[in-house]
Amino acid sequence: MDRGFGKTDRIDNWWRSPLAMAVYLGIAVIYATWRGFMEADFWIFEEFGRSAGNQTMAIESNDSHVLSPLFSPLIIPGEDGLGSWVPESLWWLSPAMFILIIPAGFRGTCYYYRKAYYRSFMASPAACAVSTPFGDYKGESRVFLFQNIHRYFMYLAVAYLFVLSYDVLLATQFSAKGVDSFGVSVGTLVLLLNVILLGGYTLGCHSFRHAIGGIRNRFANGGGRVAEACWKSCTKLNKNHNKWAIYSLFWVMFSDFYVYACTEGWWTDVVLFGGL
Ligand code: FES
Repeated sequence: MDRGFGKTDRIDNWWRSPLAMAVYLGIAVIYATWRGFMEADFWIFEEFGRSAGNQTMAIESNDSHVLSPLFSPLIIPGEDGLGSWVPESLWWLSPAMFILIIPAGFRGTCYYYRKAYYRSFMASPAACAVSTPFGDYKGESRVFLFQNIHRYFMYLAVAYLFVLSYDVLLATQFSAKGVDSFGVSVGTLVLLLNVILLGGYTLGCHSFRHAIGGIRNRFANGGGRVAEACWKSCTKLNKNHNKWAIYSLFWVMFSDFYVYACTEGWWTDVVLFGGL
């Protein structure tokens, strides 16, 4: 095989997929970083968000509460709740910075995303039968062994599903002047779909399947029937793990943008029924 960047004997458009993924992941990373910093309280960021008097993390109009998944659970440094634990020296941080390590660490070490960004950003290799620019492909050895931390991020990501589900519940609670009422807005449905897509992604995780299958390498001698059934259920999601990964990432970003657009007044979070 020819050696060098992008050298190959392939005559099909093999570069389309890694290029499209590079654009997709690049936009997602830039957007999440921008939003994460927007609610920080330092340098140019004090001109945005809650520092400037208009937080963009949660829709509070209509007496509802629709929290962006990029800021959940909400840790506002120095304020009541979880934020009261944050030392004053860290009050300049954005609420997103306390929690984004979990979704970023989970996705960054996911088996599917690893393949995607090794191809798209490192060209290592960019596609099957395409030469790598850095010598022979050696697999995930040496420093890349840190990717094994994925199995621990998985437990955090599963816990995160409960947090985001609680946010959906809060998004059905409308409250004003001591009066509470049930309701559903478009924002509620946006958050609900976010949990469904993240559930499909997280519960189809290879590490989750291994854990729920009883952390064993084979099902033999009639033992572990329940574990095997769990493993097989998980496999149904796992077969389309790439699609769950791509769609759920898009919807996390869209959910956040929806909240952002409503707090800026570009869109209105329409109440579909109930509410106050
Ligand atoms: S392998 Fe993709 S989330 Fe675990």
